[in-house]
Amino acid sequence: MKVNGIPYRTIWRSKSGTGVTILDQTLFPHAFETRELTTAAEAAEAIRTMRVRGAPLIGATAAYGMWLAMQADPGDMALDEAAAMLVDTRPTAVNLAWAVDISRRSLIHLAPELRAEKALQVAERICDEDVATNMAIGLHGLDLIKSALARKSFSEPVNILTHCNAGWLATVDWGTATAPIYMAHDAGIPVHVWVDETRPRNQGAFLTAWELGKHGVPHTVICDNAGGHLMQHGAVDMVIVGSDRTTANGDVCNKIGTYLKALAAKDCNVPFYVALPSSTLDFSISNGLTGIPIEERDGTEVSTIAGRASDGTIRRISIVAEGSEVANPAFDVTPARLVTGLITERGVIEASRPALTAAFSDKIRH
Ligand code: MRU
Repeated sequence: MKVNGIPYRTIWRSKSGTGVTILDQTLFPHAFETRELTTAAEAAEAIRTMRVRGAPLIGATAAYGMWLAMQADPGDMALDEAAAMLVDTRPTAVNLAWAVDISRRSLIHLAPELRAEKALQVAERICDEDVATNMAIGLHGLDLIKSALARKSFSEPVNILTHCNAGWLATVDWGTATAPIYMAHDAGIPVHVWVDETRPRNQGAFLTAWELGKHGVPHTVICDNAGGHLMQHGAVDMVIVGSDRTTANGDVCNKIGTYLKALAAKDCNVPFYVALPSSTLDFSISNGLTGIPIEERDGTEVSTIAGRASDGTIRRISIVAEGSEVANPAFDVTPARLVTGLITERGVIEASRPALTAAFSDKIRH
């Protein structure tokens, strides 16, 4: 996507040829800065501290992390240590383990002197495939937006609600939930996006609003609790969210608060779609509620809030009464029964085991 007329991906091989450059998302929307990662430990730190985040992007970063590790030491022990360190950074998004596993399996049987070059090829292939996949998701989702438009009165925009950031900043490019929105907007279809703020880290307010704004997509930021009210009043035509892990039976794990939007959507008869690449599917888990590890993040993300003060400095201030306990589960699971459809690179499919198995039988590892 373009930022001030310049096309960007969220991650790319640095000009130095030996490092990888990311956009430091902890600074958004107050600053747009790149950062070079030169070691696997730096890649792990960038994932853990959420300089990069979003399921597909942390997978891509980990794949580059494997390349950085192999440049430093291509031996078997270093390979396994790097893989373990990178997978250990965040537990919920399966794309991370998926990418590291692809890299490790393509390297382990190679002679050490060939590993760095191969790891780079794998990372770049993962990135290119992510872009192509998201474009395919965009085209399938575009059909849904066109159908929604056909049901509306002349000149009214299609109102889409999204949660967190499943935009191009969460992927290598295009985003998952946002790809259909960008394609609709580019095709001249009037769209308007309700952007959930997404406490505690505000990925909606800080990231999704920023990227929609840069692309000229009309949008309105709302607090997390407003979605149900808007749906009750007919102000939402469809919900499109992303996913960090979707199970064999179609249960969808995504940013905390997604489940409540799905419940409200069901009650209000609003279609609830989940846009995801097949790299987010985990066929080893059936029941999302019991099977998916939910990341517990530091409570200070809840008890404080960061913003830019009038003097331009970024400040983090406390918003919780002193002495109160805080809890910070970062993801929740939306059961398949609440999902209208999964927008994948192979089309819009039912959130069910038979439909997923039929569409992605080649992705099931036995
Ligand atoms: O904690 P984050 O910011 O990594 O969470 C991101 C999300 O929950 C996204 O919706 C999900 O990763 C899908 S990204 C295409």
